[in-house]
Amino acid sequence: MRQKVAVLTGAGISAESGLNTFRDSDGLWEGYDINDVATPEAWHRNPKLVQHFYNLRRKAVLEAEPNAAHRALVRLEEKYDVTIVTQNIDDLHERAGSSDIIHLHGIITKSQSDVNPNLTYPIEGWELKMGEKCELGSQLRPHVVWFGEAVPMIEKAAEACLKADIFLIIGTSLVVYPAAGLVSYVPAQARKILVDPKAPPVSGISNLEVIAEKASTGVPRAVNSLCL
Ligand code: APR
Repeated sequence: MRQKVAVLTGAGISAESGLNTFRDSDGLWEGYDINDVATPEAWHRNPKLVQHFYNLRRKAVLEAEPNAAHRALVRLEEKYDVTIVTQNIDDLHERAGSSDIIHLHGIITKSQSDVNPNLTYPIEGWELKMGEKCELGSQLRPHVVWFGEAVPMIEKAAEACLKADIFLIIGTSLVVYPAAGLVSYVPAQARKILVDPKAPPVSGISNLEVIAEKASTGVPRAVNSLCL
């Protein structure tokens, strides 16, 4: 039987595709306070600003290309059953060709109904406009999980971590929960590899192999060692 690999990715894996990380920029996200653009309260206060902010993020994502790290993870599927659990709202894992991806924080290329998060729709192009409605007649919003909202995919992600024979952590500061708590589900005997130039401290995990490199070189190195 093929071994199972679970991969937890964060903003660092997309940094070399030109998409900024969050905590390398003074607590601001592209110059915005997250409380103004990434909470349900912000959406109710100023939906136009929130739409504008995510329209710009979507434009940047559509202009970005997957890098060597996204591509290396696809190669892992030749030998293993791979589940990618990403905190990223970009679609670079999909475009690289990975086949099983759990988007913990949603995906920016889709919209969702303002009244029913289960109603999601692909967005044509980069702009989601005010006045665009779901089938229930409510305004469409970006399909992303905002601060203070539930993370519906967390159980599926925890299941993938629980079953992992090999666990990779790539480019995440591991400070945002519940995503950061996923490491505690990984079995003690699993092989665990972290790729991050800053290598954040990871508590509650033993025998962690650290590759303190950028994702574009560190991930291919990790994949090579797993595919020997
Ligand atoms: N290669 C690999 N890792 C990198 C690179 C790179 N080229 N550049 C930076 N990093 C690392 C940083 O050292 C840091 O540990 O990526 C990590 C980025 O951390 P954050 O900016 O905190 O991003 P992330 O962990 O994904 O944030 C989690 O926070 O604001 C929310 O919802 C948002 O999903 C996001 C969550």
